[in-house]
Amino acid sequence: MDKIVVRGGRRLSGEVSVSGSKNSALPLLFASLLTPERCRFVNVPGLADIRTTIRLLEVLGVEVLENADHAVSLRAARLASHEAPYELVKTMRASFLTLGPVLAREGGGGVSTPGGCAIGARPVNLHLAGFEKMGAKLEIQHGYVEAEAPRTANGRRLQGARIALDTPSVGATENLLMAASLAEGVTEIDNAAREPEIEDLASALTKMGALIEGAGSSVIRVQGVDSLRGVDHEVIPDRIEAGTFLVAAAITGGDCLVKNARGPHLDAFLVKLEEAGAVLDRRDDGIHVRGPERPKSVDFKTAPFPGFATDLQAQMMALMTVADGAGGITETIFENRFMHALELVRLGADITIEGNHALVRGVPKLSGAPVMATDLRASVSLILAGLAADNTTEILRVYHLDRGYERIETKLSALGADVRREKAAGA
Ligand code: EPZ
Repeated sequence: MDKIVVRGGRRLSGEVSVSGSKNSALPLLFASLLTPERCRFVNVPGLADIRTTIRLLEVLGVEVLENADHAVSLRAARLASHEAPYELVKTMRASFLTLGPVLAREGGGGVSTPGGCAIGARPVNLHLAGFEKMGAKLEIQHGYVEAEAPRTANGRRLQGARIALDTPSVGATENLLMAASLAEGVTEIDNAAREPEIEDLASALTKMGALIEGAGSSVIRVQGVDSLRGVDHEVIPDRIEAGTFLVAAAITGGDCLVKNARGPHLDAFLVKLEEAGAVLDRRDDGIHVRGPERPKSVDFKTAPFPGFATDLQAQMMALMTVADGAGGITETIFENRFMHALELVRLGADITIEGNHALVRGVPKLSGAPVMATDLRASVSLILAGLAADNTTEILRVYHLDRGYERIETKLSALGADVRREKAAGA
């Protein structure tokens, strides 16, 4: 297993380009299951989760016509299997997004329940309740969901329905949106997730011939159609990677241009970053950031989009560890998303956790130490802290990192950071 070794104290400067969005590319790749025609996606990030998804789609019978230079072409002419196996689903819960498309197009499907992960229980009850409202018959046994949808009079598999989500789940919105595209009649998803990735998926589905209104708002209406065409689509930039690099510049007092970062995808986060003392210039080609000599503490709370993204909570906590003052952080989306705090404390941070609240009292300086990555965004927050720490910080178990960041050590080094990847002895 690899480790990342960071020697702190360097101010970052220069330009960095953000890759395509992981959380947009994943549902888009699954949307290729909805049509027998070729789907081509460009600006696809080179990540472990993308490789896992392509492997899973091949298991289902999808042909991979192209997979190089951030471009992926897929054709699901016919599906050889409807079963998403546990060994793949357990490594990547987004695999659950096979269920909606396979159910809608083929009328039957099986997928392992994803199970929890480090940050929380991650249930899929909202996905399943929605499919049942659309007429699917579900059976859950031995950790598998077996679903089937008898054909309607006009040969469709699912019936349009009004579905109200208890929480604006990103994954449930995506799964149900894809299923509704081929259902009989109108589906309305209330309390839908409003993330930019939902809009990106809806934009691709619309190009495929789906009839969708309201994507990006909390009420999405879909008029089902008989079939969908292939598509050529460019994945939006990764707003979480963009936010991560903005914090990297802020925590080192740097001066950087984060290219392709889009302000409207990050507003609530950018407001807090400015409150912390960063000077931001929202430009057409990205966001320019000048970090403060020392950040100021801010309070923030994560929330569904357009609120402060939970996927940027760990990165902002890293910034707060060296801020002037004390900041309160409330994590409202996942029940166990403070594991990075325990590792930041090993670097000298002063953090007190009470349930889903964290109080971060800023210290003048962190000191490097070996730390352990526990999940994707936790691992990157440890790198950010290492950039500002004295001496050397070693982050172990970076396979978490490779799920969501494309060559981050290369991108950070290009900004002047002293970051390298090494083989971890025996770890
Ligand atoms: C997506 O996960 C993202 N992953 C996550 O990013 C992100 O943190 C999350 O949305 C929230 O923004 C991908 O897009 C691949 P949810 P998802 O369903 O869809 C509860 C990263 O670091 N819930 O919006 O799984 C759930 O427990 C990852 O890139 C139910 O109760 O998130 C959670 O508390 C981490 N029942 C809340 O909703 C359900 O059926 C939000 O989950 C589904 C969800």
